[in-house]
Amino acid sequence: MSEAERDQTRELARQVGVDFGATLTVALAYIGDRLGIFRAIAENGAMTSAELAHRTGLNERYLREWASTMTAAGYIDYNPSDRKFALNQAQRTVLLDEWSPLHMTGAFQYAITCIRQLSPLTEAFRHGGGVPFADFGPEIAESIRRMFQAGYEAWVVSLWIPAVPDVHSRLVARGEVAEVGCGSGQCLMPVAKAFPNSRFTGYDVDPRSIALARQRSAQEGLADRVSFEQVPAEDIVDPDRFDLVMAFNCIHDMVNPRGALRAIQRAQAGWCVDVVGGERFRPSRRESQPLGPFALRSEYDALYDGVTRSWWRGPRHGRGRRPCA
Ligand SMILES: C[S@@+](CC[C@H](N)C(=O)[O-])C[C@H]1O[C@@H](n2cnc3c(N)ncnc32)[C@H](O)[C@@H]1O
Repeated sequence: MSEAERDQTRELARQVGVDFGATLTVALAYIGDRLGIFRAIAENGAMTSAELAHRTGLNERYLREWASTMTAAGYIDYNPSDRKFALNQAQRTVLLDEWSPLHMTGAFQYAITCIRQLSPLTEAFRHGGGVPFADFGPEIAESIRRMFQAGYEAWVVSLWIPAVPDVHSRLVARGEVAEVGCGSGQCLMPVAKAFPNSRFTGYDVDPRSIALARQRSAQEGLADRVSFEQVPAEDIVDPDRFDLVMAFNCIHDMVNPRGALRAIQRAQAGWCVDVVGGERFRPSRRESQPLGPFALRSEYDALYDGVTRSWWRGPRHGRGRRPCA
C-alpha cells in the first residue's frame, strides 16, 4: 500500500467511525425526543441525572449514559462542577422549537423509522419489489411533517408564492390551488390560511396522511375550502382547473413520476412548482453538494413504493428499471 493509500484508508476508517457514532447518537436522541427528556431538562433548568430521573420517572442509570452521549454530541451541555445537564438556546431551538425551520428532531424520527424497515428492505434487495409506505407505520408521516412544516410555514407564503406575482394576485383574488404528495397538509394548511378567498385540494396516496390532514383542516375550521383526497398525482383528471399546482419533495417518491408530471401539467392553468427532488443528487456530485450524502441516503424511503407496483417490476423475477429521470 502506498503512503497515499494508507492516508486514504485512515481517512475512510475515521469517517466510518464518525458515521457509527452519529448513528448511535441519532438512536439515543430519538429516545430523548420520544420520552420528553430534552423537554424535561429545558423546562426544569440544569439538573443532575438523579434529578432528571426524579422529574421524568425514568431510570437514572440509563439517563446518565444517555446524557453523557448527548453531551459528547453537543446536544446538551454539562457542567462538571455541579454535574448538571442543561440546554442552551441553540439546543432548545434545534431540539424543541417545532416552529423553527432549524428544528431537527423530526430527522431522528425519520431515520429510525426508516432503519426499522431494514429487514424487508434487505429482502427487496434480494428479490426486488419494495417496502410499502404503509409498513413504515404512523411515525413516517409524523416525522416528515415535523421535518418540513416549519420551513413551509416560514417560506411558502412569505417568499415563494410572492416570487411569482401572477400566482400571488390570483390567490389573493380567488384562486384554485392543488398540492400533490401533500402529506398531512404541512404546506397546504398555512397557504390556505394566508389566502382566504381561494380553494385548496391536497392529493396523496397515503391514507394515514390524508386522515391526519383532514383532521387538522377540520380543527382549523378550513374544511369548507380545503379538501384532501387519497388520489395518486398521476390520476388527477381536472384539465386546466388549478392556478397553482405545488409538489414539494415528493415527485422522486412516486411510482410513475412522468405520469404525475403529465397530470400536473394537464391540471394547471397557471404555474407548477416542484421543490427538492432527491433525483437531482448524484454520487458524482457528492463533493459539491453538502446535502448530497443526506439526499442519497434519504432515497431509501423513496424505495418504499416506487418498487412495489406491478408495472414498475421488470418482466421477470420482479426486477425493474427505476422510473425516475
Ligand atoms: C417525502 S413525503 C413529502 C410530503 C410533503 N410534500 C412534504 O414535503 O412535507 C412524499 C409524499 O408523497 C406521497 N406520494 C407518493 N407517491 C405519490 C403519488 N403517486 N401521488 C401522490 N402522492 C404520493 C407520499 O405518500 C408522501 O406523503
